[in-house]
Amino acid sequence: MDDVFELAAPEAQAIFLRDVLDGLSRAQRTLPCQYFYDAAGSDLFEQITELPEYYPTRTETAILRAHAEEIASALGQNVLMIEYGAGASTKTRILLDALEDMAGYVPIDVSEEFLLHTAQVLRTDYPALAVHPVVGDFMIRFGLPDDSQGQPVGFFPGSTIGNLSDSEIVQFMHAARDLLGQASQFIIGVDLSKDASILVPAYDDAAGVTAAFNLNLLARINRELGSDFDLSAFAHRAIWNDTASRIEMHLESLRPQTVTLGGRSITFEAGETIHTENSRKFTIDSLTPLFEQTGWTLNKTWLDEKHYFAVLLLSAI
Ligand SMILES: C[S@@+](CC[C@H](N)C(=O)[O-])C[C@H]1O[C@@H](n2cnc3c(N)ncnc32)[C@H](O)[C@@H]1O
Repeated sequence: MDDVFELAAPEAQAIFLRDVLDGLSRAQRTLPCQYFYDAAGSDLFEQITELPEYYPTRTETAILRAHAEEIASALGQNVLMIEYGAGASTKTRILLDALEDMAGYVPIDVSEEFLLHTAQVLRTDYPALAVHPVVGDFMIRFGLPDDSQGQPVGFFPGSTIGNLSDSEIVQFMHAARDLLGQASQFIIGVDLSKDASILVPAYDDAAGVTAAFNLNLLARINRELGSDFDLSAFAHRAIWNDTASRIEMHLESLRPQTVTLGGRSITFEAGETIHTENSRKFTIDSLTPLFEQTGWTLNKTWLDEKHYFAVLLLSAI
């Protein structure tokens, strides 16, 4: 497909191996969280969104539903919606249903199989909508598909912004400003600071789905890079880091062990962890300066009753 940007498979695999070896060589071992999302990881994430403990999806969905008309009227007509980290594009449908005369939809995601399937289902359900999927890392600059047209509007739901550090948010928002251009708008879903007693279960559910999601990263490394992680020797941990205002996901080695990867041996002590993801919890005031310095201004904030989650409308300045 002409409009599908993607790395060639051998190159993508070499980058994956490089990133994994780099992360596992650090004093605090780490793995980049974007690698959670192969087809199995995306399926597991969809299961997470339906868990009773996982409040973000249902809260953000309710905000979007409650204000869909107001959002649609602020976005106007002829919208080309560019969605960063689109996943199953479920929340997107609320906006697609509310917007009139859309020019097109550009979902961007690293999870190729899942993205292309989602794009196909959307084409069936919205036959008049031009859908232009882009497979790739949204942290790397890319151009809009040649045949996409309309007034660009960014959409970045799910508080995926919470996986980024401040410097990554600045890099991301700068690139989005350049891509979307003058007069563009941007809708961003942001998970807000709240008590750890609500946050920790959301990332450590009773049914063990988030644990399976976290462990799938090691399963994926075994599948794609031929390593020999013993999944039963690692355990999922979700930790609230109050100082950094973030949930950290880790995989803890349950015993001393050695893993073989890319011709190297990597030794883990019992209790040593691999840090796999940060999910930051924000105040709106902490984000505003990052938006202002990257060419955006905050126009409108929609919240749920408990102030768990915010949907922000930014415009380019
Ligand atoms: C937390 S999920 C959110 C999914 C969906 N937008 C939602 O609101 O439920 C993050 C999504 O972003 C994608 N993703 C994560 N990091 C990415 C990156 N660096 N580039 C492109 N997509 C990424 C994942 O594959 C996944 O679909």
